[in-house]
Amino acid sequence: MTRTLIRDLHRRIDETVTVYGWINTLRLQRRMQFVLVRDHTGTVQVTHQRGGDGDLLEAAFEDLAIESAVKVTGKVVENAHVKLGALEILPERLEVVARAEAPLPIDEHTGLDQRLDWRFLDLRRPAQHLIFEVLTTVERAMRGAAAAEGFTELHTPKLMGTASESGAEVFEVGYFDRTAYLAQSPQFYKQMAIAGGIDRVFEIGPVFRAEPSFTSRHATEFTGVDAEMAWIDSVEEVMAFEERMLHRVLSDVREAHEAAILEHFGVGITVPDLPFPRIAMADALARLRGMGWDPEGEREDLDPEGERALSSLLAQEAGHEFVFVTDFPASVRPFYHLRPADDPAVTESFDLLWRGIEITTGAQREHRYDVLSAQAQEKGMNLASLAGYLNCFRYGCPPHGGFGLGLNRLLMVMLGLSSIREATFLFRGPNRLEP
Ligand code: 4AD
Ligand code: MG
Repeated sequence: MTRTLIRDLHRRIDETVTVYGWINTLRLQRRMQFVLVRDHTGTVQVTHQRGGDGDLLEAAFEDLAIESAVKVTGKVVENAHVKLGALEILPERLEVVARAEAPLPIDEHTGLDQRLDWRFLDLRRPAQHLIFEVLTTVERAMRGAAAAEGFTELHTPKLMGTASESGAEVFEVGYFDRTAYLAQSPQFYKQMAIAGGIDRVFEIGPVFRAEPSFTSRHATEFTGVDAEMAWIDSVEEVMAFEERMLHRVLSDVREAHEAAILEHFGVGITVPDLPFPRIAMADALARLRGMGWDPEGEREDLDPEGERALSSLLAQEAGHEFVFVTDFPASVRPFYHLRPADDPAVTESFDLLWRGIEITTGAQREHRYDVLSAQAQEKGMNLASLAGYLNCFRYGCPPHGGFGLGLNRLLMVMLGLSSIREATFLFRGPNRLEP
């Protein structure tokens, strides 16, 4: 008994095949029993005419429960009346490999939180599979774009002896007789690789943030895409690489999944024109204030509402869904961002917004030991605990820059999902460590 995938059935008309899958729907009528069987490639109708007393198949179908795992053997026949592919299987044998309990704990009306409790059942819906097929295409395209431009892929440690970028958002874990910290970003390690002479560094890996945020775009563990490039002349080279990478991502996603994404999520995939529009933070703030945006306490940075307003402004003016916001004030950026010689109040940095949501933060880094140490001190950092990082800049570190992109956020925006929870296999948030 070899397995036939449901998407291949149209090539097996009039043959006897076996499909492996789950019971999707049962319609048990007086004369006919209709059973829809689903595998990861599609759904097929199995049609059985009741035979009355002694009909073992009839009894077996009568006893089925939705989502049971089954193997069905039967003849594939054409039938123009069947909506699913104009074919059906006339069963000869049904094997229930593993019975599902009834009733199921979730259905299509269940709210997201309870669906996440039963994520493995939630994932059985074809739209959920599509999310992770698209994610696979996205990651492959990113790796391809990085490889084509000479990046080396690294895996930096996620256990650290000192908190990385700042102390506040870091998880502590017990580590033998001391405390370790979970990496909030590969930031310091990818810079260490640059100091080690690796010309361009690329990593896709887990990122941990102890942020007690309950928004639709925050997780405590997510997948980060990090790039770092040596010997750059300006941060512009970093933005240009990211644009090329995202162009390739969206081209590949469109080619592989455009129709399915439209069917399941109702959104189109647009391959963006290059270059993306750029706007300096000072200009962005001035324009938004001119439009009446004036949040309390936000003097030098954008709040989520400001990000949305800026994106819609650029969508109208430039017809573009992406916008790089550049030249962030030094006050709202970490100590390691490079400040231009002629204007030390700003940084050579950027955020990339897509449809009003930040998906990336990047910058050229300060590579001069004395300036970097002074900037760290100015931000109130403890130089002693930074020594392992700062040492990288004492023995000839080239100018460099890079970015960090949130992969789940990118996927959420791309597919128009309502929450990052749906763009994550198993979401982790302040209130969720299970399943
Ligand atoms: O903006 P962030 O914090 O930047 C850094 O980590 C820098 N080290 C990057 C650099 O190279 N300078 O994080 C990068 C991206 C964000 O733009 C966002 O897309 C995502 O990571 N991100 C989150 N995604 C989900 N949940 C969270 N709590 C996130 N925090 C950041
Ligand atoms: Mg950021």
